[in-house]
Amino acid sequence: MNKEKSNYQILLLPGDGIGVEVLPQAVRIIRAATEFYDLDIEYSEALVGGCAIDEYGEPLPTATLELAKVADAVLLGAVGGPQWESLPMQQRPERGLLGLRSGLSLFANLRPAMTFPALARSSSLKLDLVSGLDLLIIRELTGGIYFGQPRGVKVNQGVREGINTYVYNEHEISRIARVAFDMARKRRGRLCSVDKANVLEVTQLWRDVVTETHAEYPDVELEHMYVDNAGMQLVRSPKQFDVIVTGNMFGDILSDVAAMLTGSLGMLPSASLDANNKGMYEPVHGSAPDIAGKNLANPLATILSAAMMFRYSLEQPAAADLIEQAVQATLDDGLRTADIYTPGTTKVNTLTMADNVLKNMSNIFQSGLR
Ligand code: IPM
Ligand code: MG
Repeated sequence: MNKEKSNYQILLLPGDGIGVEVLPQAVRIIRAATEFYDLDIEYSEALVGGCAIDEYGEPLPTATLELAKVADAVLLGAVGGPQWESLPMQQRPERGLLGLRSGLSLFANLRPAMTFPALARSSSLKLDLVSGLDLLIIRELTGGIYFGQPRGVKVNQGVREGINTYVYNEHEISRIARVAFDMARKRRGRLCSVDKANVLEVTQLWRDVVTETHAEYPDVELEHMYVDNAGMQLVRSPKQFDVIVTGNMFGDILSDVAAMLTGSLGMLPSASLDANNKGMYEPVHGSAPDIAGKNLANPLATILSAAMMFRYSLEQPAAADLIEQAVQATLDDGLRTADIYTPGTTKVNTLTMADNVLKNMSNIFQSGLR
């Protein structure tokens, strides 16, 4: 992407449930940032997930994918809900998400898990294990068992048989490994590659290729870990990790574990990037149908996803920093949505939380100018 560029196109995909409440709040934050930094952003909006099924009969309409392809970045709320759960697999809202990932070649999924000091006490782990936690899971997102062929359920001599295929080629492995080594280099210089090389040949290849790629990054410390051990280590002593890189399915599982460690699933952003840093940005949490429509949802994960968008796809790190600092300041002010509320703090709704992030953005920006 052209570094001089300051006009961008963003596709907004609110999706379902609380997605339609949190996404507009993130847009308010983006608009403020574009004013402060004199950026020019054009927005388009489209349907994905359950709302697209209701409107067009499919979770990822062609028009949505086409808009996503021409955008510089996509900001997504959440998809899914109980009313679509009985549909056949190919028509479920989640397919919309998977279709965007593969249709846009978003192979690198970045899932940071960090403990906000103000929230460390809400973790299910002891405070000293999680305070100051800052790890980054890099999950391969367009290959592995999620997409491998053959797949399906068939009847074999009168017996139903289900099959999925766990496949990676060496190019898929080396390109995600490079993303992970690059990230580790910018952080604390340590990478842990997670596999099941003691049982699965495909992950023996994974281990070999990651080791070969390491030759390009002698300054990064590389370690390999079996996935069962990694799950255990994540809950035993999570601060041993800096960057973790793994395949699609292991990454799905480990990133939920890591998210829970922070005590604040409602706080975690994610980025899914292609080879040119075009990206889709979304909160790690789901559509939370139980609280949808009540102005109760925590908008901070989506707001922090917008910060990641400024950092990775728009190359506007100052805007990203400003948003992150404003979120931090808002938490330090004691404001909490219901999901992160603890006695002694101030419970606020979705809108008020975003109002306060905006106020803090403005304060921090002004004080930087003085
Ligand atoms: C995630 C989700 C998705 C996945 C589902 C909704 C398809 O669990 O993003 O982690 O498994 O990738
Ligand atoms: Mg998941």
